[in-house]
Amino acid sequence: MAKEALVIGASGMLTEVSRWLARQGYQVTVLGRDPVKLSRVRDGSTHPESIHLLPQDYHQTDGLRKAMGELVQKRGPMDVVVAWIHSTAPHALPVIVEELSRPEKCWQLLHVCGSGAWRNPPIELTSEVCVYRRVVLGFRCTDEHSRWLTNDEIAAGVIDALQTTERQMIVGQVEPWEKRPT
Ligand SMILES: NC(=O)c1ccc[n+]([C@@H]2O[C@H](COP(=O)([O-])OP(=O)(O)OC[C@H]3O[C@@H](n4cnc5c(N)ncnc54)[C@H](OP(=O)(O)O)[C@@H]3O)[C@@H](O)[C@H]2O)c1
Repeated sequence: MAKEALVIGASGMLTEVSRWLARQGYQVTVLGRDPVKLSRVRDGSTHPESIHLLPQDYHQTDGLRKAMGELVQKRGPMDVVVAWIHSTAPHALPVIVEELSRPEKCWQLLHVCGSGAWRNPPIELTSEVCVYRRVVLGFRCTDEHSRWLTNDEIAAGVIDALQTTERQMIVGQVEPWEKRPT
């Protein structure tokens, strides 16, 4: 049976992560609001037939719940989910975890978090079948200059994280915290 992946917020900095998962043999469902942006993720892939578009606003909690239920019905249980979700949608991740855990098959959630998450403990999940890990996006700094990560650096860091079993990985650096870009 094919391995199934879902990438949430797939048409921005996770574009190359979605394409990498397709190259690794996953059937990859890519979620974002704009279907045109999602189709670009598929069209730039060496495995376009393995990329499936799911236009959905994750702020719309009922619609998201329905979309997750339909996804499992259509594609079967997920193996890996990579999620970049803005903090304006605090209900999205719990809904995704609840719905994707219904099949009671073990799956992995890689939660991509902004720099500030580093100072907070990982979220508590209620699912027994979801293995939660997180990637914290840091920054880069030298003595004179500091900057946020580029999309390529973020994608490379998330791909590295997908190949480990570490509970938390930091891309770039989060210390010294006071040197983060403003
Ligand atoms: N620490 C760091 O260095 C750091 C941290 C964060 C971000 N950044 C940088 O900042 C840039 C901008 O960040 P960004 O958040 O705009 O990231 P992005 O990954 O470039 O774009 C956000 C992704 O989420 C989707 N999305 C946004 N709102 C959504 C919603 N309500 N429902 C479903 N999908 C939604 C977008 O597609 P749709 O618009 O079609 O929905 C898109 O696929 C990034 O490209 C990155 O380079 C750097």
